[in-house]
Amino acid sequence: MECTDRQPYDIIRDILTVIEELNTLKDVDAILDRVLGEARGMTNADAGSIFLVEGQNLRFSYVHNDTLFRGADASKHLYTNFAVPIDEKSIVGYAAMTGKSVVIDDAYALSGNEPYTFNKKFDEDTGYHTRSMLTIPLTTFQDKIVGVMQLINARDCNNAYRPFNKDDIQYAPLFANSASVTIERGIMTREIMLRMMKMAEMRDPKETGPHVQRVGAYSAEIYQRWAQKKGLDEVTIRRNKDVLRLAAMLHDVGKVGISDTILKKPGRFEPHEAAIMKWHSVYGAALFANTTSELDKLCSKIALGHHERWDGAGYPGRLPANLAEARELCLEPISGEDIPIEARITSLADVYDALISTRVYKDAWPEEQVVEEIMKGRGTQFDPEVVDVFAEIQDVLRAIRAKYQG
Ligand SMILES: [Fe+2]
Ligand SMILES: [Fe+2]
Repeated sequence: MECTDRQPYDIIRDILTVIEELNTLKDVDAILDRVLGEARGMTNADAGSIFLVEGQNLRFSYVHNDTLFRGADASKHLYTNFAVPIDEKSIVGYAAMTGKSVVIDDAYALSGNEPYTFNKKFDEDTGYHTRSMLTIPLTTFQDKIVGVMQLINARDCNNAYRPFNKDDIQYAPLFANSASVTIERGIMTREIMLRMMKMAEMRDPKETGPHVQRVGAYSAEIYQRWAQKKGLDEVTIRRNKDVLRLAAMLHDVGKVGISDTILKKPGRFEPHEAAIMKWHSVYGAALFANTTSELDKLCSKIALGHHERWDGAGYPGRLPANLAEARELCLEPISGEDIPIEARITSLADVYDALISTRVYKDAWPEEQVVEEIMKGRGTQFDPEVVDVFAEIQDVLRAIRAKYQG
């Protein structure tokens, strides 16, 4: 709020417009990305991060940094995994504990009388120079603190450093508080999804929580790169990435419809058991059928298509539009681009994670071997373009693996 002289009315109207847009987003990461982007835009801040409350800690949950994280592999920084306790020792901890914003003009010139200290580690590790900071607790209307947003290094019209000014300090928290409700909703949606997965996991212990989190994140990142290469516009990419992450997490939820004797059977399936297992794709799709929401439609597509193969040798193949009428699978194969792109991506992400992780029935394979195996499936099991994108974003995938372990 430095370069253009804007009236409070305009600022508040803009905040309300953004809040309305935020309400169309479903996934918590997409919401955090947007909230941080808008708050940085309002204050012309070079960088920022969001921490979310997790028990007695604040978990680092989202980051932007225009100076450091540019270019193709910027995404990997989103998966940094650490938490700080909610206490007065750190600046974010202090903001969460007291519920008050903290304004710092120069992080290296604190008086020494503050209860908190500035942690220089990030600057030392990256060579970044933090100066001004505006740290805002994210408080809902019920006075519940869901997290803390930290905006870093405000800039003037010439992109030179400046302290956060009066308008920033007044309006950024106003925006943050309205956004908190949306963030809370995003967290709830994610939790409901994870609970659905927990149900599936109780039935089939092979599908664990961290596995679905990873498959969701891999799929979202592969999609983003794929769509960028296709030249899709950023708004479309962001919207699709948002719903894809959640829908990919539910790829195997249809396993709740498979009997325990098959699902929990140790060792290999007999052919007739394997044939019954294939129905989990149809059951999953049926769970989300007959809805109008974009998310449900995508959940249905991914559940149905995540075992299809590029060469047409996968399952379940083409089915009647009314899934309840399906009596037999694999009557007519579907292949190539007839398989929805989201299912093509999730299929690779799911196989990749199964190979690279330890499972009850197998050890984790070394990374090179897994990549080699996926490459072998290029053009047969997997969409060649999706394989190429997969190969390009290995460090992002590695960061996701490090974040969601277990
Ligand atoms: Fe599956
Ligand atoms: Fe899976």
